[in-house]
Amino acid sequence: MTTPLAAVVLCAGKGTRMRSEKAKVLHPILGKPLCFYPLMRALELGASPVVPVVGHQAAEVERSVRALFPAGPLRFALQKEQRGTADAVRSAEEALTDFHGRVLILYGDVPLVRRETLAALVDAHERGGGVLSFVSTRLEDPTGYGRVIREGGKVVRIVEHKDCTPEQRQVRDCNAGIYLVDSSFLWTALANIRSTNAQGEFYLTDLVEMAAARGPVPTIDADFNETAGVNDRVELSARARDLQTRINIHHMRNGVSLADPATTYIEEGVTIGPDTEVGPGVSLTGSTVVGRNVSIAQGCVLHASSVADGTTLKPYTVLEEAKVGERCILGPFSRLRPGTDLAEEVHLGNFVETKKARIGKGSKANHLAYLGDAKIGSGVNVGAGTITCNYDGVNKHLTELGDKVFIGSDTQLVAPVKVGDGAYVGAGSTVTKDVPPGSLAVSRTPQVNLEGWVERKQARMAKSAEAGPVKSDKVSAG
Ligand code: UD1
Ligand code: CA
Repeated sequence: MTTPLAAVVLCAGKGTRMRSEKAKVLHPILGKPLCFYPLMRALELGASPVVPVVGHQAAEVERSVRALFPAGPLRFALQKEQRGTADAVRSAEEALTDFHGRVLILYGDVPLVRRETLAALVDAHERGGGVLSFVSTRLEDPTGYGRVIREGGKVVRIVEHKDCTPEQRQVRDCNAGIYLVDSSFLWTALANIRSTNAQGEFYLTDLVEMAAARGPVPTIDADFNETAGVNDRVELSARARDLQTRINIHHMRNGVSLADPATTYIEEGVTIGPDTEVGPGVSLTGSTVVGRNVSIAQGCVLHASSVADGTTLKPYTVLEEAKVGERCILGPFSRLRPGTDLAEEVHLGNFVETKKARIGKGSKANHLAYLGDAKIGSGVNVGAGTITCNYDGVNKHLTELGDKVFIGSDTQLVAPVKVGDGAYVGAGSTVTKDVPPGSLAVSRTPQVNLEGWVERKQARMAKSAEAGPVKSDKVSAG
């Protein structure tokens, strides 16, 4: 049996250097709050419960975290005053009184640590046989970080930057702020930490010296691109770029082509099938799922949408909570809003907007249309400029088009209305009544041709020009 694992994620700090009204851990990187990442990693590792320690803007942080992990095994702890990282972990004790095992401690402002690294820490802890293990990181510029002090090759303590002697400041081996601690040791040791240091804070790092007094303190080394924290907005943008690079590499290694990775924005949680091609400036966010062999051209924006195999998205197509079937062709400049559900081989062209629209196999709306609250069969042709008039100012109503319907250009379908299978609607019609299957509906006024009208008009104009002093070459169509 493996030892039970819980996690404590510190999210209580103010983040003064962000110069923000918003709590630091809520600042987004790649669409998700900073603290999402360490919390997600802890949950992936199977930690249960996971205790976010909140303090500064506790209510907002708690609300956001709950929304991110509605089903997660979370127990929130409140750190009333931000008196240091040891004090923050101590506030989690109550939430973990019934827990016996190992406690993974993460900082909410260190977003890029990988699951593999945490798993390696668990391994090192198991093999090392101590009460505490942690992640170290070698830095070119260790300013601000706690230094890992070794004697005879063994870790003896961590000294915070502000408390270092000049010699200790030369040490490049730093504390990444990621620890695994036996619960049997953790709570009693925390109670013994004092705030007699340069910052007058309770340092969690003091645990290391206490653990070293009892036995080995195993460490694993991780790269700076995993351990770098976020203390200001410059670092926030740097971490966002690092994460973007990492996610893009992951997809490319899985067989996705990115034409210009520097401008490709893919959030964590998006999945993309092999042989899909992604153009420059594409954004894929939320729970978006893209199939195989999909072509996503420049500037497309997909949020919480799914696109099945073999579909082509031409430039600047925008999808929001939309579902797109196989081998569809969309765009350029199509906009699919929530509740759009396209079967296979649907074609939607430029400036076509859909909302709550189910569209059957092979149907087409190639130019300038609004299809909202619509149920459209298969093999339907929707002409240019067609509008479903779905809203009467109070309620939304449904437009239903059967299979193989042909809607002429510039038609208004005033909902609720049904057009039966195989029916035609003449161009320029305003359809207010149901159209039976197989019939033609035309509602425009009959055309009148006034023969010789232009000649007569010009003659009239020439006459008035002779009479008056003001000469005008403007022709009015009256
Ligand atoms: C900390 C470590 C340092 C390490 C560095 C790595 C300590 C004493 N120092 O320094 O050794 O090299 O991280 O990034 O732990 N927090 C609370 N409550 C508090 C104080 C902090 O919840 O009272 C949270 C913050 O929100 C933040 C995290 O703990 O998420 C780390 O705190 P921070 O003040 O940023 O520590 P560092 O000075 O970066
Ligand atoms: Ca920090």
